[in-house]
Amino acid sequence: MEENLLELNDYIVAMLRKIPQMLDDLEDVKVSQKSCYRDLVTMADKKLEDYIKKSILALCPNHEFLGEESYDKKKSYDTENLWIIDPIDGTTNFVKQGENYCCILSYFRENEPTLAYVYDIQNDILYSSMKGMGVYKNAEKLAKPQDKNLKESLVSADLRRLKKSKPDLFDYIIKNAFSIRVTGSSGLDGIKVIDDKLGAYIHSNAGAWDFSAFFLMASEMGLCFTDLEGNLPAKNKYSPFIIATPSLHKEIMDFLL
Ligand code: IPD
Ligand code: CA
Ligand code: CA
Repeated sequence: MEENLLELNDYIVAMLRKIPQMLDDLEDVKVSQKSCYRDLVTMADKKLEDYIKKSILALCPNHEFLGEESYDKKKSYDTENLWIIDPIDGTTNFVKQGENYCCILSYFRENEPTLAYVYDIQNDILYSSMKGMGVYKNAEKLAKPQDKNLKESLVSADLRRLKKSKPDLFDYIIKNAFSIRVTGSSGLDGIKVIDDKLGAYIHSNAGAWDFSAFFLMASEMGLCFTDLEGNLPAKNKYSPFIIATPSLHKEIMDFLL
């Protein structure tokens, strides 16, 4: 592993670890609505995205960003050094539960997934990955998940939207999975597949920031990560996605295609 990347990783880890204190210091998170009453954003989302960008720019002034709170669908984001940021994933949980939210951050060097982080802020658990080095849960290197099938797996999905957009798939999963468990944070639901707690997480239409970490983490862990047609999702726009064990992924693809 090149020395620059190790240093960059150390810098990012230290930067992310400051987030809990930053959130504690906010007196009022000022909740507002985006596209509809169920789509919330807070001052914390905006402040954190700004903080992450400024921190990275201080070390890497020529790097560029695709952040949820400043996303421009007209831009291609096709650049040599791209960071994708979801400052708070699970904003609804942040507002209504005070737990089950995370920060998702990924670095693509020359379009290759190179660094990826999912930080469970409230529990102070940082999942991190460097290309070729596996996935860590704080200091512990995670073992590759077992290749479970649908019948023996817990599965998560964005149930309401999936029921509307893919009712047959929704029914198939409800009927055939061992059971369903939903956290309501794409980062934390997806990381449970990485951490061998779920067999699959399926999303009917997520933003690139919701799934950016899974390009690298899934490949490091021998998991399948695709859209619902079996292709790699685009990293600059909205897309359906599934992260799953190979057997479970095949079952879903056989059903869909
Ligand atoms: C949301 C969460 C949720 C998923 C939504 C996302 P946000 O992210 O990940 O689980 O179903 O599609 O938008 O808006 O809290 O960053
Ligand atoms: Ca999100
Ligand atoms: Ca968010």
